[in-house]
Amino acid sequence: MKKVFIKTYGCQMNERDSDAVAAMLLDRGYSLAKSERDADVILLNTCSVRDLAEQKAIGKMGLLTRKKHRRSDLVLGFMGCMAQRLGPKLLDRLPKVDLVIGTQKLHRIPDHLDQFFNNGHHPISDIAEEAGSQDTIRDHAAPAARATAFVSIMQGCDMQCSFCIVPTTRGAERSRSIEDILAEVRALVTCGVKEVTLLGQIVTSYGRGVIPIRDGKSPFVQLLEAVNTVPGLERIRFFSPHPQGFRDDLIECFGRLEKLCEHVHLPVQSGSDRLLKAMCRTYTVDKYRRIVAKLRARVPDIALSTDIIVGFPGETDADFAASVHLCEEMQYDNVFLFKYSNRSGTPAAAMLDQVPQEEIVRRHHQLWKLTETHAARCNARLIGHPAQVLIEGEPESKKVEGRLFGRTRCNRLVYFPGTGHQRGQLLDVHISRAKSHTLYGEPA
Ligand code: SAH
Ligand code: F3S
Repeated sequence: MKKVFIKTYGCQMNERDSDAVAAMLLDRGYSLAKSERDADVILLNTCSVRDLAEQKAIGKMGLLTRKKHRRSDLVLGFMGCMAQRLGPKLLDRLPKVDLVIGTQKLHRIPDHLDQFFNNGHHPISDIAEEAGSQDTIRDHAAPAARATAFVSIMQGCDMQCSFCIVPTTRGAERSRSIEDILAEVRALVTCGVKEVTLLGQIVTSYGRGVIPIRDGKSPFVQLLEAVNTVPGLERIRFFSPHPQGFRDDLIECFGRLEKLCEHVHLPVQSGSDRLLKAMCRTYTVDKYRRIVAKLRARVPDIALSTDIIVGFPGETDADFAASVHLCEEMQYDNVFLFKYSNRSGTPAAAMLDQVPQEEIVRRHHQLWKLTETHAARCNARLIGHPAQVLIEGEPESKKVEGRLFGRTRCNRLVYFPGTGHQRGQLLDVHISRAKSHTLYGEPA
């Protein structure tokens, strides 16, 4: 039996895709290797959002191709966003690579591997568009071992944020049907999953133009309502919305749909209207503020996280100060801070006033320090209080015996004493200690 190892770079969507590919391969009679060392096939699921992510995957593949001196039968492949973006150019650059599989062709991987093992190696680049590919990602590898799962509800993005490569690598928006998604959630719950995260590049656009608005409710709100009725499911999260589609019908779901968790990740990108405009983000800081104010009025303790880019072309000291100011004002639980990375082919890449790298690094460090203090403050507030934790299992790295971890409804990571067989249980934990991104406690 041939063994496959998949290494994943990038976002939750990629994790979900890797998992689906693993499930398809298991179904086809392959097994999953525990490490690269005992694998017959190594696939790198790649990310293109920033240059650094691409360089990492290319560097890694360079090292892997050297293994072929000793093992000429080893099969090496790129899949995902960088594979989509660069296609056959990757084969030119790294001639020992066997497979390059784009984001709409992941379900073809088992066929390509069968082909290699039955008929010998010919490097393949398969990156064409494929209608209906959003419906091919549905199985999970070994869901029985997990309390939480990602569910892909749509693929692609029709927005044109001027810095972003995702519309190129992931294609146009395509949504799965509510029935299909419900069937997947129900199947996961049957396997013991208690929490699902509904994934898409822009979930607030889910079903747009395909599923009609009903009683003033967007297709995404209809989906949330449907998933909320699945018996045995305890928690629902989603990732990521866009401020443009974050309307009152969605705000009103918080506190009404009992499974919907009190955490919103709402990417803002910048605190400067001038830059938001240059980024083609389609909202103003004030509109963003109003959404957050409504959410906090509805659920006062709601956790809020965001994405911010520093060093977008033309970002002045004043624009940067506006992002700093917005963070001070919002007091985010968590900020994913990105140094602007020039992606060729995007409109921002052609802008003339690129910010010097040293300045980007300086701004990144300054804002990072500030947002860490906010995160620490948000977490410290919980000391002395109980929190409901969904037990996910034992931490993979630095395994400390008798220690479990899980997340609160607000998506805070909590470590506490306990044993492994409690996975999937909800437990009240009394919080006794806090770091900026971790809480520690004892079962209450
Ligand atoms: N809509 C998707 C966005 C995917 S990219 C989502 O929210 O999941 C994730 C984040 O990466 C973006 O929100 C943005 O903050 C950051 N990002 C995207 N392109 C970037 C670039 N060229 N340079 C730096 N950061 C970028
Ligand atoms: Fe990218 Fe903007 Fe879509 S960040 S994924 S183009 S909403």
